[in-house]
Amino acid sequence: MISTTALELRAGARLLVSGVNVRINHGDRIGFVGRNGAGKSTLAKVLAGETLPAGGAVQRTGKIGYLPQDPRTGEDHGTVIERILSARDLDQIAARMTQVEEEMATTEGAALEKAMERYSRVDAEFQAAGGYAATSEAEAIATSLGVSEAVFGNQLDTLSGGQRRRIELARILFSGAETLLLDEPTNHLDADSIIWLRNYLSTYSGGLVIISHDVNLIEQVVNKVFYIDGNRNVIDVYNLGWKQYLLQREQDEHRRKKERANAEKKAEILQKQGEKMRAKASKATAAQGMLRRAEKLRSSLDDVRVKDKVAKLRFPTPSPCGKTPLSGKELSKNYGSLEIFTDVSCVIDKGSRVVILGLNGAGKTTLLKILANQLESDTGKVENGHGLKLGYYAQEHEMLDFERTILENMMSSKDDLREPEARNVLGSFLFVGDDVHKPVKVLSGGERTRLALATLVVSAANVLLLDEPTNNLDPASREEILGALTEYQGAVVLVSHDEGAVQALKPERVILLPDGDEDIWKDEYFDLVAID
Ligand SMILES: Nc1ncnc2c1ncn2[C@@H]1O[C@H](COP(=O)(O)OP(=O)(O)OP(=O)(O)O)[C@@H](O)[C@H]1O
Ligand SMILES: [Mg+2]
Repeated sequence: MISTTALELRAGARLLVSGVNVRINHGDRIGFVGRNGAGKSTLAKVLAGETLPAGGAVQRTGKIGYLPQDPRTGEDHGTVIERILSARDLDQIAARMTQVEEEMATTEGAALEKAMERYSRVDAEFQAAGGYAATSEAEAIATSLGVSEAVFGNQLDTLSGGQRRRIELARILFSGAETLLLDEPTNHLDADSIIWLRNYLSTYSGGLVIISHDVNLIEQVVNKVFYIDGNRNVIDVYNLGWKQYLLQREQDEHRRKKERANAEKKAEILQKQGEKMRAKASKATAAQGMLRRAEKLRSSLDDVRVKDKVAKLRFPTPSPCGKTPLSGKELSKNYGSLEIFTDVSCVIDKGSRVVILGLNGAGKTTLLKILANQLESDTGKVENGHGLKLGYYAQEHEMLDFERTILENMMSSKDDLREPEARNVLGSFLFVGDDVHKPVKVLSGGERTRLALATLVVSAANVLLLDEPTNNLDPASREEILGALTEYQGAVVLVSHDEGAVQALKPERVILLPDGDEDIWKDEYFDLVAID
């Protein structure tokens, strides 16, 4: 159980929410939603006890399992399976058992009796934690989440951010925590794992808070919704399932819009009245008060308009290039003894639209990285055609420099880019004023995605390599990106588990990994993107 009293959250000096009194009880499966940057991850972190709130208090009972949004988190010592098992302290209990076993073998009389008693206690503890079945349970969860058996014995620090995150998720689900706080759990999961997770969570009996841009997941799992309203700086609690919540919220917004219109009217009346009265010396003070109130009413209204905006997005006209700007010939990649793919060839023609499909670990991200010249292939080679200008969107935003600011990242994304133009593009991606001096490391997931896309927009790329570009985006921003993708004239190679994104691309061809087979796109391939 987690509850908060008069909680206040801030981002630097900016107020995110205040006066938050919420409870997460057993059986609550809460969808926590709101615009990018509204403060969802900040709240999750505070609920988990990883940071202190700006004000108010959090009470917690029972074990909490927290999955942060950032893949660059979690322990990096030991092996994969040890990491997962440690969630129930099974490694510790096993060590104590061995110790007592030794005592029983070496002692006599009363000491032996004591040791035997202790043994039955430790054994009971061991059974309670799942006993010998636990290892296989942990393995089953891990494989369901796309952690292949081949990596169970691997050291954590040799794995990718995405793999580490899947392992952390497996660990949390295995831990038997009473309350789960999951921040974008479907990032880095393939379609099969997402379906498994959906089913797993929809019967979860503890408390659950889930932040996700995956509407299907939210819809199937949640029985309550917390909506964080960045305009009013509050969290609205809806004791409703997803569909009813959407209806209710629409009504609420409608009501508020009316209230806003009323306020606007009121401001206008106050203004007029105030101006009239200002002329009379005897009423000057009252007039001042009225004008101030009108001003105040207006300024709160302007606020709303700015925050309701969505990034207006268009990818620019691609610069000219030859018939085949990019191709890969007989590419192979192994990580140590793990073979990812062998002899994959692909030809990316000018303006063509290609989707790469394959299960987790089939090498989709790896292939894109090789095509983007970010990673060497073991065999084969990538050929850059005449006039190629590449735009690469990396799943974990590795192309961004986390220590540098938004503006600095933007400036270094194109050689002759000047500051006014950079600021202009950033503005259309909703980074305005002093925001552009924020270092990337403090940005929310969706804000990082927005910035990475902004850096693509300034380059007149004629081939875009996009790795899960819709992860983290709130629904309104996602729509905007997909619209821009549909309009774009250049070639696109897309990796995505988001069926809507694939639909928006209107793909012509598909490359299936790990075999590298190529085919004309058929609608039945949608089943492989995300089965529903
Ligand atoms: N140290 C800081 N200084 C200034 N702003 C910060 C700092 N840390 C976080 N922020 C800002 O706080 C806001 C809330 O971030 P948070 O990660 O909680 O958003 P979110 O709702 O989880 O968004 P998303 O949907 O994109 O994940 C963001 O605008 C972020 O840029
Ligand atoms: Mg977040």
